[in-house]
Amino acid sequence: MTDFLDIHKTDPADLRQILDQASAMKTARAGRLRGAPDDDQPLKDRMVALIFEKPSTRTRVSFDVGVRQMGGQTMLLSGAEMQLGHGETIADTARVLSRYVDLIMIRTFDESVLLEMAEYSDVPVINGLTDRTHPCQIMADVLTFEEHRGPIDGKKVVWSGDGNNVCASFLHAAAQFGFDLTFTGPSQLDPEDEFVGLARRAGRTITIERDPYKAVQDADLIVADTWVSMHDSQSTKERRHNMLRPYQVNEDLMAHAKPDALFMHCLPAHREEEVTSAVMDGPQSVIWDEAENRLHAQKAIMRWCLGV
Ligand code: CP
Ligand code: NVA
Repeated sequence: MTDFLDIHKTDPADLRQILDQASAMKTARAGRLRGAPDDDQPLKDRMVALIFEKPSTRTRVSFDVGVRQMGGQTMLLSGAEMQLGHGETIADTARVLSRYVDLIMIRTFDESVLLEMAEYSDVPVINGLTDRTHPCQIMADVLTFEEHRGPIDGKKVVWSGDGNNVCASFLHAAAQFGFDLTFTGPSQLDPEDEFVGLARRAGRTITIERDPYKAVQDADLIVADTWVSMHDSQSTKERRHNMLRPYQVNEDLMAHAKPDALFMHCLPAHREEEVTSAVMDGPQSVIWDEAENRLHAQKAIMRWCLGV
């Protein structure tokens, strides 16, 4: 039994095994109704707690549906409604939940909450997003890229905008899956040195380029995310928008990348802000496959965590 806390904390061979299993499971249930059970019921008799301290559409629904397809049961918990939000320690919550459930997925603010939950839980813990990282998302993104374009190894990914939690997990993935990444955005919103350094030490080319048009040259994949994340204060919204406007992904910017470059966004998106509708709904966008693949990738992550 293993935690899935971050991409750089998981062995590359295991990451590859997870993606292979996700792909095989996706193929095996093609054409079935969403609620139809998988043939093998790997999570039969398993109870999974899904804890959300922040809003969610994709993570919440894809984990819930994924567990049910695999024969398990879920319990959706909002942090505010638990004693967790009223002073009970994370460690004590983890000890108690471990007596009721077989697996815990948590979306929280501070990374320390996730780490403490994992330390004191007797059952595996999955990172469903923190202020710093979003590993489940990037597993789905790599799966999506490879479905459309083959191995991501050696490819050039461009991140345009805020060097946030999703960008951090892309840098972790660059190290583990062997692709290069160019960040383009204002210097105030650069990804943390820790994340850039980790990918560079793994031998990847990580470039910081302020000019978005130069950044996307030869890009195989362009990625955008919201300009104001859930952990950012709304009071910074106007300042962030002013800084980030030059980094909007639009048709003009896409035209400077490789002709077959893909576009991804973890969603939720703000149309006409970080990306135009023309790009989101255009032929290079794979955002709906990306959203669907959260389901398949996370099913394989849960199986890997439980060893089933
Ligand atoms: N991409 C993602 O994690 O979406 P939700 O916030 O809707 O879960
Ligand atoms: N960076 C975004 C991702 C949402 C899935 C946030 O943290 O709000």
